[in-house]
Amino acid sequence: MYQTLLTHLENGIFIITINRPDKLNALNKTVIEELSSAIDEVINNTDIRSAIITGSGAKAFVAGADISEFTSLNASGGKALAQKGQDLVFTKIENSPKPIIAAVNGFALGGGCELVMSCHFRIAADSAKFGQPKVNLGLIPGYGGTQRLVQLIGKGRAMELLMTGNMIDANTALQYGLLNHVVAQEELLTKTKSILDVINSKAPLAIAGCIKAANAVFDETKNGYAVEINNFGELFDTADAKEGAAAFLEKRKANFTGK
Ligand code: COA
Repeated sequence: MYQTLLTHLENGIFIITINRPDKLNALNKTVIEELSSAIDEVINNTDIRSAIITGSGAKAFVAGADISEFTSLNASGGKALAQKGQDLVFTKIENSPKPIIAAVNGFALGGGCELVMSCHFRIAADSAKFGQPKVNLGLIPGYGGTQRLVQLIGKGRAMELLMTGNMIDANTALQYGLLNHVVAQEELLTKTKSILDVINSKAPLAIAGCIKAANAVFDETKNGYAVEINNFGELFDTADAKEGAAAFLEKRKANFTGK
């Protein structure tokens, strides 16, 4: 049914596996559109009580937005990409009345880390790694990363990760509050399902109420998303953003000029 996702319903839990392992499950246009449809399925199908998002293979959850789609973008294209992704997937996950949990099986970088953060909470394999390396491309996160990272781990730690582009391992992410649990890779889905079995045994409207009320804490930050979209888009008009994507695709070090 989907080109880039594997889906499977088990005991009321819809398991969505992003399946582009040759590109480390990078989020291209098709993945975004299909994730949007899969989230609609979660929300609308009465047989589904909750969902898990994970990645195919042991190496990556999602290694970011697909950088090969960045090369032709200008400011308006960048803003449209960020707005569309936020509306179709990230905000929709966050506001889903049914729990959507990330089971992080490897690298969760850039858009992958943003996808993890838009989920209601997160469980990771001990091999998982997290980071916001957009700064290496002369860009900033565009799928809500500047906002949700501050919400989840606090401003100081978020600022350091955003500005250095450094990765953190699963145990550091646990200590920072980005993760709820860290388990061995082979226990990742079992652990996540066991938590969802508990949640699925509760009243669905109460669960929906928990999500709605907890999300309301952050309503005042909504302007931050608009700031992010604008800034994300404008950076596509810079020489450094073009150089960052080109250098990555040509497998060389970027030569940034500050323009
Ligand atoms: N977009 C597009 N393609 C990507 C990608 C991305 N974000 N991340 C990885 N890939 C592709 C690579 O280009 C490579 O494709 P190829 O085999 O056709 O050359 C393939 O996935 C495997 O990645 P590779 O870089 O060879 O693996 P690695 O083990 O050497 O490094 C990472 C793994 C995650 C450190 C590295 O892929 C990386 O830095 N990715 C980009 C991370 C990033 O900047 N994400 C934010 C973007 S928004």
